[in-house]
Amino acid sequence: MADQTEPGSLYSRAEHAARIIRARTNLRPRIALVLGSGLGDFGDEFQDAVAIPYEEIPGFPVSTVEGHAGRLVIGKIENVPVLAMQGRVHFYEGYALEEVTFPIRTFKLLDIKTLVLTNAAGGVDVQLSQGALMLISDHLNLMGVNPLRGPNDGRFGPRFPDMSAVYSQELQHQAIEEARAMGLELRRGVYAGLSGPSYETPAEIRLLRGLGADAVGMSTVPEAIVARHMGLEVLGISCITNMAAGLGNEPINHQEVVETGKQVRETFAALLRRLVVRLAV
Ligand code: HPA
Repeated sequence: MADQTEPGSLYSRAEHAARIIRARTNLRPRIALVLGSGLGDFGDEFQDAVAIPYEEIPGFPVSTVEGHAGRLVIGKIENVPVLAMQGRVHFYEGYALEEVTFPIRTFKLLDIKTLVLTNAAGGVDVQLSQGALMLISDHLNLMGVNPLRGPNDGRFGPRFPDMSAVYSQELQHQAIEEARAMGLELRRGVYAGLSGPSYETPAEIRLLRGLGADAVGMSTVPEAIVARHMGLEVLGISCITNMAAGLGNEPINHQEVVETGKQVRETFAALLRRLVVRLAV
């Protein structure tokens, strides 16, 4: 077992990454956004922004998937400092969950307090139409692994962290209010995180429905677990890019997922903008 106090420990690697990021900007955001498929260019709207390619941040994994840009953008929205990941890496790309969640560890050491996770997801609840946004009320970790497996560093959090309220009630409430002010309905639902990369079979979707899932995807859950381990407040929003397998008439393909993400982008961006301003108060 690795000694967590040694120079190569996860904590010291995250400290190193945080130092590199701090040196690139005077902004000190308290809110971080992870922008999923098709949503990455929201970060291009930030004012006074610096964009740091993940390659330039030691320890940051580099995404291999189309639709995921792979840069960290730090800037301002209506004068509120904000940090965004334009693209993330996924377990299915072959990265260990410790690598997938390394940026989240770094955010904690940058003194980020609130993490907004976004993703593209398949709709398992038939009430969720293509293009709808779903507020994540809870999740099912069905990846078969947990990002906290391995030695625990108490500076990050406890060995056995509570997961009874991963997604902040208060943030959910604020998100619903902001959506309502835009005339947007934001349903709450349970997100099932699977490893992918194959999409599900119709039988698996029926199983997930039986387990209480409303949406299904291949991200978010590891990041949310790690964020809660460290005491960050988490909000999750899914863009329902397609009906899950067996519920629509068409086969599912990544192009459609990215396309729907882009169509919803304006609405999603407007909601995120409002949320950032609201959460800063
Ligand atoms: N399944 C899993 N992940 C997804 C889907 C889906 O249908 N759509 C977008 N991401």
